[in-house]
Amino acid sequence: MTGSAGTAAATSRLPDLTGWFRRPPPRTPLARLPTPVERAPFLDGPDHQVFVKRDDRTSELYGGGKVRKLEYVLAEVPEGPCTSVGAIGSHHLLALGIFLHEMERNLYSWTFLQEPTSHAVRNLAALVSLQPLVWYVPRRIMLPLAAIDYRFLRRPPEPGAWIPAGASSPAGAFGFFAAACELAAQIDAGVLPAPRTVYVTAGTAGTAAGLVFGLAACRIATHVRLVSAVERPLFNRWIFASVLRRFVRFLRTLDPDPRVRDLTGPGALRALARRGVTWSIDHGQVGRGYARSTEAGLRVVADSARHGLALETTYTGKCAAALAQDVRGRGRFRPPPGPILFWNTHASTDVRRFIVQDWQERLPPALGRWVRRVGGPDLVE
Ligand SMILES: Cc1ncc(COP(=O)(O)O)c(C=O)c1O
Repeated sequence: MTGSAGTAAATSRLPDLTGWFRRPPPRTPLARLPTPVERAPFLDGPDHQVFVKRDDRTSELYGGGKVRKLEYVLAEVPEGPCTSVGAIGSHHLLALGIFLHEMERNLYSWTFLQEPTSHAVRNLAALVSLQPLVWYVPRRIMLPLAAIDYRFLRRPPEPGAWIPAGASSPAGAFGFFAAACELAAQIDAGVLPAPRTVYVTAGTAGTAAGLVFGLAACRIATHVRLVSAVERPLFNRWIFASVLRRFVRFLRTLDPDPRVRDLTGPGALRALARRGVTWSIDHGQVGRGYARSTEAGLRVVADSARHGLALETTYTGKCAAALAQDVRGRGRFRPPPGPILFWNTHASTDVRRFIVQDWQERLPPALGRWVRRVGGPDLVE
């Protein structure tokens, strides 16, 4: 990675979103923004220069894209505990747990298993160290059982405010609308050229929805390549269109001014294209499924680590793998020649500092047994 230019210069040029919306959403400041943009020559292809948006540095406490979402999500829910859902290695649950812990609030988590990589088990160890209440089921499709348990059998002491998976409510997505405006200010300040293609990973797609609309609002004509971390039935163009439409309805409630009103009306999705923003989805990196690592992902994660960029195998590694194949002409998509922006949504924070000695004893018994069976304690070292 090569150094970031002009981060400080861009700070003063962050666009004032209140100018676009007469009722902007409330925000709880958690992130240190703007995040830097750096060159990543090791990802370049013959016709492409790659830049990286370092959202791994959104916060020293715990970075990553989730922090941007939580700024808006936590501002709209009442004080008190929050309830949410994710896999054992979920960055969303961990980020939520860490920031709620800072606020002396509780997390109630509905949690299911994923491939026991050291990264995932470490995240679980950090999560349970924060002492959330956990409703555990072995498989994602069994989550309705966790919901029944939570509602009727093991009810929490007080109800938690519901935060959807990945913090991808429309308010959460707004964090990435604002992020696109931050990027526009950095382009304006000469930190990077306007990217012709943006690579970002997608799971629940709140990140991508906010970004696509933010780029269009700021008139950054570009193609957004969404590299899916999940199987087709869980994310596809119909699901994305419905996430986008829900976000449009949310933008409308903010009372937009005429400069962005075309992005909030019934023809909003067509307005994206009129403003030069297009998108496509790549399922080519999913491999054996959500959170199952792939060879290409492992390779690019190792290569990125050698260049000072910490990725992981569930989301950002798969996204970088798609980019690396595409710029070498071996992928499913030919990005137009020119600058590419890889949006790194993964926190580079070392989560081991959150892990307490007796973390295993804080697991629900069935989850504890699984952790021991897969060699969890060694994976956390
Ligand atoms: C590191 C990382 N990047 C990207 C995503 C995907 O974001 P979204 O769910 O908004 O598509 C996640 C989701 O948990 C994540 O953990």
